[in-house]
Amino acid sequence: MRTGILALTMATLSIATSLKEETLSHIRQLQLDPEGFVHAADDGVVRSFRPDAQVVDYIKLNETQLMSVIPDLAFHDADFQAHLVEVWTDVDGNDVDDEQALHPSEELLPPRLRAGYSAVDDPAAASPSVAARAALEKKTLFCAGRLCSTSYACQYMRCSLCIAVDMYIPTVMRCI
Ligand SMILES: *[C@@H]1O[C@H](CO)[C@@H](O)[C@H](O)[C@H]1NC(C)=O
Repeated sequence: MRTGILALTMATLSIATSLKEETLSHIRQLQLDPEGFVHAADDGVVRSFRPDAQVVDYIKLNETQLMSVIPDLAFHDADFQAHLVEVWTDVDGNDVDDEQALHPSEELLPPRLRAGYSAVDDPAAASPSVAARAALEKKTLFCAGRLCSTSYACQYMRCSLCIAVDMYIPTVMRCI
């Protein structure tokens, strides 16, 4: 009996893990502009942006997929995780039509792509070379979670892309 429950728990965990890995891998396979970045928006759509705010590629995630990647996207910040659970409860990116996916309205954009955004005091606005050099100086190849402004900076550090999530801590973007 106990073994049965344990086996069931393990199976459930492994489904959750594989869904998470599968979802992260879908995100990492987005077409990218090296000078751009990726944004996981409140409507459940993860969009890859060019620096001029054009959408290069996107994927629509359902609620289960969104929930599965929260720990990775929130970089183990408990308040941020709780916030994302709230934002994405009952959200299904598949409800979003392709027009909105490609041309998100202003409130779905990451703050840096909105009118009036100022890069002053924006930690994520540091140039890619500065970010990459800082990582190298620390003599580490551990890139996940590092602040970034472009996907190129993350790839230089051997991560996949630079991602912003929702608009919590609005200006911060990190490598995954
Ligand atoms: C969301 O998508 C995943 C992957 O396709 C699927 O396994 C899961 O059942 C879906 N969840 C819902 C609530 O539709």
